[in-house]
Amino acid sequence: MDTMYWELSEDTKKNNEFIQKAAFEIRKGNVIGFPTETVYGLGADATSTEAVSNIFNAKGRPSDNPLIVHISNKGQLQDLVDSISETTNLIMDRFWPGPLTIIFPIKKDSNLSEKVTAGLDTVAVRMPNHPIALSLIKEAGCPIAAPSANRSGKPSPTEAKHVKEDLDGRIRGLIDGGATGVGIESTVIQIKDDNIYILRPGSITESQLQEITPSVEFSYERENSNQGNTSYDEQTPISPGVKYKHYAPNGSLTIIKGNEEKKVKKCIQIGVNEAIERGEKTGVLTFTENKSEYNADVVLTYGSRNRIDETAHELYAALRLFDEKKVTSIFAEACSEEGMGLAVMNRLKKAAGNQVVQV
Ligand code: TXA
Ligand code: MG
Repeated sequence: MDTMYWELSEDTKKNNEFIQKAAFEIRKGNVIGFPTETVYGLGADATSTEAVSNIFNAKGRPSDNPLIVHISNKGQLQDLVDSISETTNLIMDRFWPGPLTIIFPIKKDSNLSEKVTAGLDTVAVRMPNHPIALSLIKEAGCPIAAPSANRSGKPSPTEAKHVKEDLDGRIRGLIDGGATGVGIESTVIQIKDDNIYILRPGSITESQLQEITPSVEFSYERENSNQGNTSYDEQTPISPGVKYKHYAPNGSLTIIKGNEEKKVKKCIQIGVNEAIERGEKTGVLTFTENKSEYNADVVLTYGSRNRIDETAHELYAALRLFDEKKVTSIFAEACSEEGMGLAVMNRLKKAAGNQVVQV
């Protein structure tokens, strides 16, 4: 199939035409790539099983991994869920539109395709904080099911060119709205009674959620960590998606973590030197402040050490650039796991298949 590309510009009239065209394709059951404030999404009509199947096919996604339903106003929830608790309402009012996905019990006679929820009795819903995403949903006139717009297993796309790399010829169209803001996927939560469970960490942090209700628990595997749950009972909600290998570059990736920066740098340079001797093409992912200190084939930065927003914003683009430059052995400096850093390190560890060296 030929993929149509719509590059947005200063010309509002033209932009509106592009969004109309994209919405028309969504109504026809086709799959469209579009920007959100987190990462690019791969959208289709959530009420059509054929349309939703097209998403799974384009991405090569396992069918037991459910999708997030994107809405543009709270009224659309009426067709998806039965009742909304007071805490949930407070959370929505505080964080929507925004990078927060909420898991609801699904309404019995909802018109969503069963493929969206992979047969679960819950549905993930999010209202993105991005003008293009919101207009597209509104114009399409239906809730839009959308995973991140990467081929399964690849880093999520934060620029339209990443979507093109992965999905050219596999989707009907792509709206290019420039680089996304946040850079990592939304926080996914489930609310039970007054407890919030974080199923996937993101830019909405534990402490922000605690401003609404004090009981916030992590409910995903926190590898190499003694802070969170690692054993779950049947009541503990878990996201099916977190079990899959994710975000991985083609080369092997090792994270080096330690309190003493000097030791971290030394360990990375030793690793690089050894890899060069083996004949590998080497890469280092570091902070802007340390860029000049490494001797490797490709040295990339993910923002300043003290700017976790920059780190989140740059992470996936850097992982993709290592692939483009055919790097086979990558060493990354860990970032702090405070606040949003927890989510960044969660993605980085997954990309590294959990290879973390503590020095
Ligand atoms: O920021 C984002 O969330 C992006 C943009 C495009 O909105 N979307 C995204 O979708 O990251 P995806 O499909 O890559 O990740 C959705 C996550 C998966 O881990 C999935 O298992 C989980 O949400 N999920 C979806 N429905 C669920 C449900 N009913 N119960 C538990 N987890 C669910
Ligand atoms: Mg994804």
